[in-house]
Amino acid sequence: MTASIDYPKLVTELPGPKAQEVLAKDKKFISPSYTRGYPLVIKKGEGVKVIDVDGNIFLDFTAGIAVCNTGHRHPEVVKAIIDQANAFLHMSGTDFYYAIQSELAEKLAAISPGIGDRRVFYSNSGAESIEAALKLVRYHTKRSRIISFFGSFHGRTMGALSLSASKSIHEKGFAPLVPGITHVPYGYCYRCPYNLKHPECDTFCVNWIREDLFKRAMPPEEVAAVFAEPIQGEGGYIVPPASFHEKLQDLCREFGILYVADEIQTGMGRTGKMMACEHFGIDPDIFTLAKGIASGMPLGAMVARHDIMDWAPGSHASTFGGNPVSCSAALATIKVLEDGLVENAAVMGDYFKKQLLACQAENALIGDVRGLGLMLGVELVKDRERKTKAIEERDRLVNACFKKGLLLLGCGENSVRFIPGLIVSKEEIDGAMAIFHETLREIET
Ligand SMILES: Cc1ncc(COP(=O)(O)O)c(C=O)c1O
Repeated sequence: MTASIDYPKLVTELPGPKAQEVLAKDKKFISPSYTRGYPLVIKKGEGVKVIDVDGNIFLDFTAGIAVCNTGHRHPEVVKAIIDQANAFLHMSGTDFYYAIQSELAEKLAAISPGIGDRRVFYSNSGAESIEAALKLVRYHTKRSRIISFFGSFHGRTMGALSLSASKSIHEKGFAPLVPGITHVPYGYCYRCPYNLKHPECDTFCVNWIREDLFKRAMPPEEVAAVFAEPIQGEGGYIVPPASFHEKLQDLCREFGILYVADEIQTGMGRTGKMMACEHFGIDPDIFTLAKGIASGMPLGAMVARHDIMDWAPGSHASTFGGNPVSCSAALATIKVLEDGLVENAAVMGDYFKKQLLACQAENALIGDVRGLGLMLGVELVKDRERKTKAIEERDRLVNACFKKGLLLLGCGENSVRFIPGLIVSKEEIDGAMAIFHETLREIET
């Protein structure tokens, strides 16, 4: 089935007997709010391989939801974790100092796009980094209103949830949310299936904010910040028109509004550059990181321009944020990314996208192939005009790929995302493509 690799390799029906035992206990004791699509029970990970509790070997094109950017258990990351664990596990940066926190902050400032000094606030997750940014923009500007985008996902804590607008199920039952947040269209006009551009799409969104929103409903001098993902992730891997972010940044600067780039999914090399903002030539005032920052150890960061992060002691803090073991993993992660993985993401991403486009030419079910680097999405549709979304087919496709040993995830209503570790090889991409293509044909017929 695969080109020159000998995995995936399945040795039991799925789920196997040991996996079934875990599933039974999970059903009894774990919150039912999680969204597991298929029953993978991991025992071990290695590079782009995942081995389950029954000995089945999978090709992992999820990287734990775009987290294990250096692959599973990269040796340099594991060594950094062990070395730090042998020194101390925790002390809390809220009340004490440790060198690795400022060392990592210096590194994060250095890899930040744009010029000028930066400061870092550490958290444990994406949502917490977003919460920190939401608090900081209100604190610094003394303004209360915020703009974010339809299709965006920023996390599930109350502030991050209030900024999000990708699926209403995320919000159902949790109102009232944080007030003062207005959602606007992301990069494309309302009539536009993403990527089928109307001539006015490039300017539609920013003009609409300026001419309609600011004149009729929202005084711009009361707006603290715009929160934007460089590429929308959970919303369906939506790459906005090339000039969108730049125009948005110009608008922000005109009215003294802060630009917050949520790089939680797009950052840390995922798109073939260290930060996705670099593709769009923008210099955000603040950006948020998590996911790929520490190769799987829990860590988030909110990186802000030095003059903006001006809050007083006690304004914001976190017991665990910036945990030393996570910081150590992050420093090792950045080194591995700089030593070639970001470049590999760009090269392999181009190769992969070409394969997906070739697959689209042969399969009517694929309406669109989009993304940058190794953040690639395929939209499934029922007609060439892309008027009918193939939602149920998408779910069947992801499940059928799992049964053949390829781990994928959906995004948006009807898209599949491909987000392997950035160490992925051409042979592994060929292996994944062979399974994906074969399964697509089976779903189509
Ligand atoms: C762009 C973006 N922001 C924020 C989050 C929330 O991150 P976390 O799940 O770590 O809270 C996610 C998670 O998928 C994300 O993709």
